Amino acid sequence: MGKNVILESIAREMQTGVLVLNGSANALYANPFFLNSFPVEGGVEGRAVGEIVKDPVLLKTVGDFIKNLGGISEDIEINEGGRFFSIHLVPIKERGDFKMLLFFQDITEEKRVETIKKDFVANVSHELRTPLASIKGYSETLLDGGMDDQKTLKEFLGVIDRHATRMARLIDDLLILSRLESHQMTIVSAPVDIRDLVVTTAKGFEKQARDKGITMASGMPGKLPRVLGDRDRLEQVVVNLLDNAIKYTPSGGTVSVAASKTGEWVRVEIRDTGIGIPSGDIPRIFERFYRVDKARSRELGGTGLGLAIVKHIIQGHNGRLQVESTPGKGSVFSFSIRSCP
Ligand SMILES: Nc1ncnc2c1ncn2[C@@H]1O[C@H](COP(=O)(O)OP(=O)(O)OP(=O)(O)O)[C@@H](O)[C@H]1O
Ligand SMILES: [Mg+2]
Repeated sequence: MGKNVILESIAREMQTGVLVLNGSANALYANPFFLNSFPVEGGVEGRAVGEIVKDPVLLKTVGDFIKNLGGISEDIEINEGGRFFSIHLVPIKERGDFKMLLFFQDITEEKRVETIKKDFVANVSHELRTPLASIKGYSETLLDGGMDDQKTLKEFLGVIDRHATRMARLIDDLLILSRLESHQMTIVSAPVDIRDLVVTTAKGFEKQARDKGITMASGMPGKLPRVLGDRDRLEQVVVNLLDNAIKYTPSGGTVSVAASKTGEWVRVEIRDTGIGIPSGDIPRIFERFYRVDKARSRELGGTGLGLAIVKHIIQGHNGRLQVESTPGKGSVFSFSIRSCP
């Protein structure tokens, strides 16, 4: 096999864009990966680099590189067409002839992960800071003499306790999420009586609903096949969905749970007559920390982790998750899990 055939195969198959320029910054060659990222009608050959890539930093770097006939050039990062690339320049000097190779590595995914990480740290810090500031404020007031009054003491300790509970819950949720995401929390698959699970969990919410003036209804068939799953995790799904249904439904509304068998799946549905979710927000509500109305949800004690946990658990069960919602009318969250064979 000739060397050229080998080199051609490498250039064709590599998952890095390659662009070769001559000493006048005109293109001599681009490999398929490059052409995919920077489509140029009629091919790149003979075109000036500025017709192919628009980024001014890259064009300046190429210009300097030619002026200095190579030399040292740091890798540069550009954002073009919604994607990020890290570009490495390599000179080729051959008998007075100067060419250069540009390697374009697509780093869009790395950038995305980096942003998520940054946002995550910012979110966690912010969520912890709010209750912590209250705890600090109230305890300082108590230490400054507020303690002498029994009534104030009791009231402030109550507030401190509430904020501490909230921080503890946030940390619990974060730990659960992180374990689910790193697959450290294995989903044990065993037959689960999903009917019993839903009925029992819904019972646990009756008082909370009654206190808020919400009617709980249920539409459970007499019998349901068992599903293959992890009882504790599935219970958490139902708890998080019911908690939301009650939280986001004003007094006088109804929250109903229902379950049914469809083919080899068992479908559980939690329906409310609450505030609903605008359709533009629906794709985002399963993201960590995402809340449609930040202020309102926080007031209700929410941090936006509940549905992220739900999504991970259902994914871990290879199940399906669905949402339908009409603002001002209500929402229906449902999930389906395969029943036991
Ligand atoms: N049944 C519902 N009706 C209306 N909006 C909902 C409903 N369920 C979820 N949402 C919206 O989706 C957002 C994300 O829900 P999620 O359960 O993840 O967070 P949360 O309830 O705000 O906080 P947490 O669950 O961590 O206490 C909520 O803030 C709310 O805006
Ligand atoms: Mg929630």
